[in-house]
Amino acid sequence: MEWIVEDRGEIELWTIAGEARRNSISTAMLAGLNAELARAAGRRELRCVVITGQGDKAFCAGADLKERAGMSTGQVHAFHRDLRAALRAIESSPKVFLAAVNGAALGGGCELALACDLRVAAAGAELGLPEVGLGIIPGGGGTQRLARAIGVARAKDLILTARRVKAEEAAALGLVSAVVAPGRLREEALSWAGLVARNAPVSLRQAKRAIDEGFSLPMEEALDLENRMYQDCLGTRDRVEALRAFAEKRKPVFTGE
Ligand code: COA
Repeated sequence: MEWIVEDRGEIELWTIAGEARRNSISTAMLAGLNAELARAAGRRELRCVVITGQGDKAFCAGADLKERAGMSTGQVHAFHRDLRAALRAIESSPKVFLAAVNGAALGGGCELALACDLRVAAAGAELGLPEVGLGIIPGGGGTQRLARAIGVARAKDLILTARRVKAEEAAALGLVSAVVAPGRLREEALSWAGLVARNAPVSLRQAKRAIDEGFSLPMEEALDLENRMYQDCLGTRDRVEALRAFAEKRKPVFTGE
């Protein structure tokens, strides 16, 4: 089994179940991820997915280098096509994805975390894009997503030196939102996911789109996009519910309508 999925209603916890190979990305692991993404897309009540790795050594050690050694060039191309599709599916999903970085997140593992909307890490976990030291470059969106997440100068620092940073430095760089004690990571990540999941689903979807799609647009077009995303929220029952809940001094109950 490549993934272990825990269904908690509005939140799911997905664990990469490959500790012996440091949760690296094999063809089977990737197929499993794409299958879970397709399944999750059909779960309307699901609002936030937490992705983590099995054990305390690695979140994900990048491509499965043992499998890679026996792959043809054509198979490597197919792998990259499927990886790109999976990471784009995470990024463009209406659900919010949170990476709970329990250990090393290197290469494709770091890129998986970068495709997620939020990242929290266990103290001591290491993140990095070591590809230029391996004769390649980040090939799972790392050059683009790292620069967008933390800025061009910081992305060049990490990618061109290939250095690994500990969670604490990753937090200072803005690469992770919080660093927590390793034994508390799962609970903290789920509680963070709870902060997301209590909000209006249409608002979450539209805010995520406005940020991601607006980023590469000129300002006027980006503001137009934000306005369209905002307008889409105005007609929802959840907006009316939020106003009613405020007047009645209670928490809103959102349905995603
Ligand atoms: N693919 C396949 N197997 C991997 C792997 C990977 N990316 N990373 C680690 N493993 C395997 C090791 O080969 C080893 O297998 P073995 O027990 O059969 O010898 C096992 O996982 C444990 O590895 P080890 O290095 O002893 O674990 P560690 O806990 O001391 O260190 C890492 C974990 C992730 C820091 C370290 O394994 C590492 O740096 N891996 C390579 C990361 C990398 O460069 N990825 C590619 C980026 S492009």
